[in-house]
Amino acid sequence: MTTTRTQVAIVGAGPSGLLLGQLLHKAGIDAVIVERVSGEHVLGRIRAGILEQVSIDLMDEAGVGARMHQEGLVHGGIEMLFGGQRHRVDLHKWRGGKNVMVYGQTELTRDLMDARQAAGLKTVYEAKHTAVHGFDGAKPYVTYEKDGQQHRIDCDFIAGCDGFHGVCRASAPRAAIKEYEKVYPFGWLGLLADTPPVSDELIYVNSERGFALCSQRSRSRSRYYLQVPLTHHVEDWSDDAFWQELRLRLDEEAREKLVTGPSLEKSIAPLRSFVTEPLRFGRMFLAGDAGHIVPPTGAKGLNLAATDVKYLYDALVEFYQNKSEAGLDHYSQKCLGRIWRAERFSWWFTQLMHRFPHDEQITAKFQNAELSYLMNSPAGLTTIAENYVGLPLDFGGAAG
Ligand code: APR
Ligand code: PHB
Repeated sequence: MTTTRTQVAIVGAGPSGLLLGQLLHKAGIDAVIVERVSGEHVLGRIRAGILEQVSIDLMDEAGVGARMHQEGLVHGGIEMLFGGQRHRVDLHKWRGGKNVMVYGQTELTRDLMDARQAAGLKTVYEAKHTAVHGFDGAKPYVTYEKDGQQHRIDCDFIAGCDGFHGVCRASAPRAAIKEYEKVYPFGWLGLLADTPPVSDELIYVNSERGFALCSQRSRSRSRYYLQVPLTHHVEDWSDDAFWQELRLRLDEEAREKLVTGPSLEKSIAPLRSFVTEPLRFGRMFLAGDAGHIVPPTGAKGLNLAATDVKYLYDALVEFYQNKSEAGLDHYSQKCLGRIWRAERFSWWFTQLMHRFPHDEQITAKFQNAELSYLMNSPAGLTTIAENYVGLPLDFGGAAG
């Protein structure tokens, strides 16, 4: 067994763990990251790609925003297609000049990985049997196995950035944790292709055949999604079948403009709303997907992870620089206030845009009427824009 020491042991090298590591490094706080899979495996995951201003600002604060500003596409609006008609939500107009940025999570992760490597910071990839210990006392530590050798990292704090299936949340005492969950009765079939996007902006589609989304990664790379039943398997969806079904869910103009091509990636993701309370267990803190999951409608997952990280980072800096535990004490409550707001929006937007099994015919009529109301009311447009571009960091809300 080898034993090393660090100030913060971070479990998980997804966007949460890497961003936290980078911010801590900037503040002169030492951290080691332990990751279960390889770096290539982490980069192979295709996830959403919409950054709110708070996430953009955090990438800058971490000193890794250069490529994002060069290659990211600033979007001042989104389109909503329902009842066969397209309507634009001018985010810029209805949300005081705010925008969102299209920049794939893969690219953001790559930037963080590169910066970590360039700074010579330690990340242990392909660590087996990671376990967290002693976080209910003053001397927490993390153990793992690598290349058949046992390792131990002594630390002041453990940051659980290890996603929904991670070991940190699973190690919290059952009596101290409450989990809230809703699983949706459908999934999203996603397809990535090197074809120009069908539209400059994203199109969220409510159609009789189910939800669809036209998204993008760049001016030459598209990402599309279709709502599919949970019983479907990705192998049963040929590229042709995907494009054909997408066309049927689009309007005439988009159908004509749609450029199809071979898929680079195709996968089905389930939809889930999930929140853990609290997010702190003694000297262990959960951040990102380890503590909460949103359905992808509205693209809040990565942005919520980034703001957890920001709150945790601020609290740790306060601890090390001012010897104050106030930030750490408030971490959970502060995050949860923002998390529940985003959970609510993602759940509401999912209900508004999808066909649910066993829905009565009247439900589609209600959805159309609600969408039509929202698109024609300044209050409705403001509510969508405000939530889509995201709440400010200091939104002042209380936990849900
Ligand atoms: N030991 C070490 N690492 C682990 C363990 C473990 N026992 N279990 C999981 N991990 C790693 C995973 O392999 C993964 O790389 O933790 C990482 C968690 O990364 P993500 O799942 O990407 O979660 P997070 O970093 O919180 O990212 C936030 O935003 O858009 C959303 O869900 C999307 O990934 C996204 C998220
Ligand atoms: C994506 O580009 O993958 C994406 C965009 C917006 C969403 C969800 C996913 O709401």
